[in-house]
Amino acid sequence: MDPDGSEQDPETKEQYASVYVGREEDIKRSERITAVVHDREVVIFYHKGEFHAMDIRCYHSGGPLHLGEIEEFDGRACIVCPWHKYKITLETGEGLYQSIDPKDPSAKPMWCSKGIKQRIHTVTVDNGNIYVTLSNEPFKCDSDYYATGIFKVIPSSF
Ligand code: FES
Repeated sequence: MDPDGSEQDPETKEQYASVYVGREEDIKRSERITAVVHDREVVIFYHKGEFHAMDIRCYHSGGPLHLGEIEEFDGRACIVCPWHKYKITLETGEGLYQSIDPKDPSAKPMWCSKGIKQRIHTVTVDNGNIYVTLSNEPFKCDSDYYATGIFKVIPSSF
């Protein structure tokens, strides 16, 4: 048992140390920034008074989420990927989709969740500075594929 993480090896500890990404007032003004946090590209959104950080590349096929629009679906704020319009909740990283009961085609489509698909990271505000701490949640998240290895760099031509 290692409840406080004190037995983590130093490299792991370093990987999950928070990183300064910018001034609070600047990010509030621009409403989004990109940053590299311990070799992982993330996008930080400021939306309706809250900061949200997630992997920058869409879990579906690596699209550039920092270029998407934020819209509400079923009362939940989502980033809409500019490539194929997948909807990802800012709060949890869930992929949302609409479904309809095939036995009742007249029914209204309902919003459903595919589960967490995009890795969400923690944003901390301290004395006017914004920090991001990478998620250490021990589950396989689809966006991990594009956040690591040869896929992790976004070409500058977007
Ligand atoms: Fe984002 Fe396809 S790459 S929806």
